Amino acid sequence: MAHVEHANGCIVWFGIPRQDERGILAANGWQLRVTEIAADSNVGIRKGEHVLGLLDLRGADRSTLESLQRIAGEHAYLPLLAAIDDHAVSDPSLRELLRSCRGSFSTPTELAALLERIAAGDHADKPRLNVLVGQSPAMQQVRTNIYKYAPVNLPVLITGATGTGKEIAARALHALSPRRDQPFAPLNCGALAPHLVQSELFGHERGAFTGAATRRLGLFESANGGSVFLDEIGDLPLEAQTNLLRVLQEGTLERVGSNQPVKVDVRILAATHVDLEQAVEAGRFRSDLFYRLNVLRLQMPRLADRGEDIELMAQHFLDRFREHNPIRARTFDAGARRAMRTFAWPGNVRELINRIQRAAVMADRELLSARDLELDGALPLAGDNAPPLHDTRGCAERNAVMGMLRECGFNVSQAARRLQVSRVTLYRLLHKHGLHVEQMR
Ligand SMILES: Nc1ncnc2c1ncn2[C@@H]1O[C@H](COP(=O)(O)OP(=O)(O)OP(=O)(O)O)[C@@H](O)[C@H]1O
Ligand SMILES: [Mg+2]
Repeated sequence: MAHVEHANGCIVWFGIPRQDERGILAANGWQLRVTEIAADSNVGIRKGEHVLGLLDLRGADRSTLESLQRIAGEHAYLPLLAAIDDHAVSDPSLRELLRSCRGSFSTPTELAALLERIAAGDHADKPRLNVLVGQSPAMQQVRTNIYKYAPVNLPVLITGATGTGKEIAARALHALSPRRDQPFAPLNCGALAPHLVQSELFGHERGAFTGAATRRLGLFESANGGSVFLDEIGDLPLEAQTNLLRVLQEGTLERVGSNQPVKVDVRILAATHVDLEQAVEAGRFRSDLFYRLNVLRLQMPRLADRGEDIELMAQHFLDRFREHNPIRARTFDAGARRAMRTFAWPGNVRELINRIQRAAVMADRELLSARDLELDGALPLAGDNAPPLHDTRGCAERNAVMGMLRECGFNVSQAARRLQVSRVTLYRLLHKHGLHVEQMR
C-alpha cells in the first residue's frame, strides 16, 4: 500500500512526550517522531510533508536549553511549538525561545486546542475532523481510528447506541478519504419497503417488474467512485445481503431484471445499533457478510461515558444555536452541570442537543438550570447517593427508563417524548433491559 498521508502532518518532538500527549496527537491526526535533544538532531522531512517541531522545555536545565536554542537556529524553516511547565516563564533564554514558537501549552487541554488552531490555520482547504466535538479518552480513540481508517479502501462497521454520532462519523470517514470528491450516498436499510430494497440498491432494467417503465440506476451505481453509507444494516433483507456480499467480494452487481454483471467501485460504510453477532447467530444476518464488513470497527461511545465532554459539547451546541437564534441563554449554572454529568442520556448526543435547544428557547435567563433542561427532580438516577456512573452505566440506563415510565404512568409515547428518544428507541431499550411494560402497569 502507498504511504498513508497523515491528515495533518508530523510533529518532531524534541524531548519526551507523555502518554496522554501521544494520544492527543494521534487523535488529532498527527504523526509523532520523538527525537532526543542530543548533539546531532537530524530532522528528516519527506517531500511535501507538513512538519512542526516541538520543543519540550519542561524542566529544561541550562545545557538542554542551549541544545534547544541550537536546534531552533539550525532548523529556522521549522514552525515550532513548545511544552512548558506553567505559564510563569522567568528565564530570559526560555522566554526568547518561546518568542520564536507559534504557540505553547502546559496542559493536555491546551495542547488539543493548540493543535486544532494550527490545523484550522494551516489546512483551511483540507478536510478535518472538527465536526466531531470532544476530547475525552473515548472520543480520542474514535478520532484516532477515523484518521487510521479513512485512507484505507476497506469497509468500516460503525456500532453504537442511538444518537451517538454514527452517521456523522461515517461522513467524516468519507470526507477524510481519497473519495472525498465523489458522492457520499446514505441509505437507511430499515426504512425501505422490503420489495423495493433490491431495486433501490442495485437498480432495475426497464420492464423488470410492473411499474418499471424505465431503467433506473441503484444506489451503488449512482455512488460509483464514492462511499455508500448503509445505516441500520441489520435490517437488510437476506436476499439483498447476498448481493451486497457480491459487491464486496467481486465489485460487481446485477440490476433487477438483468443478468449482466456491472462493475462498481464503492466503499461500504455500514452502521448498526443492533448486535450483529447476535443477528448472525439467530440466522438473520449472513455470517460471511458480517466478517467482510467487520474488518475495521468503529465503536461510538455513549455520551454518558464521555466525562467532561458532556459539558464541553453542551456549551458547543448552545453556542452554535445562539449564532442563529435570538436567545438569552449563554451558559449553564452549577446545578445544570451537575445534572448533565450524572444523567444517563439514553438518547445520547441527539438528546443533549434537543434538551439544550428546548431549554434555550424556553428560558428567559442567561444561565440555564437543571430545571430548564428538565433534568431536575425527574433525575432518572436513584438519587444523590447513587454510585459513580461509570460503574453502573447499564444499570443507570435501566433506571432512567424505569423511572420515566413510572412517572408517565407507563405511557410509552409520553415517556419516550420526555426522554427525548423515539418510541422505537424506547422499545429497543425496554427489550435490551428485559423490561415488560405490560407487566409493570
Ligand atoms: N461528537 C459530536 N460532535 C458534534 N455533534 C455530534 C457528535 N456526535 C453526534 N453529534 C450530533 O448528534 C446528532 C446525532 O448524531 P448521528 O445522527 O450521527 O447519530 P446516530 O448514531 O446516527 O443516531 P441513530 O442511531 O439514532 O441514527 C447529529 O445532529 C450529530 O450532528
Ligand atoms: Mg443514524
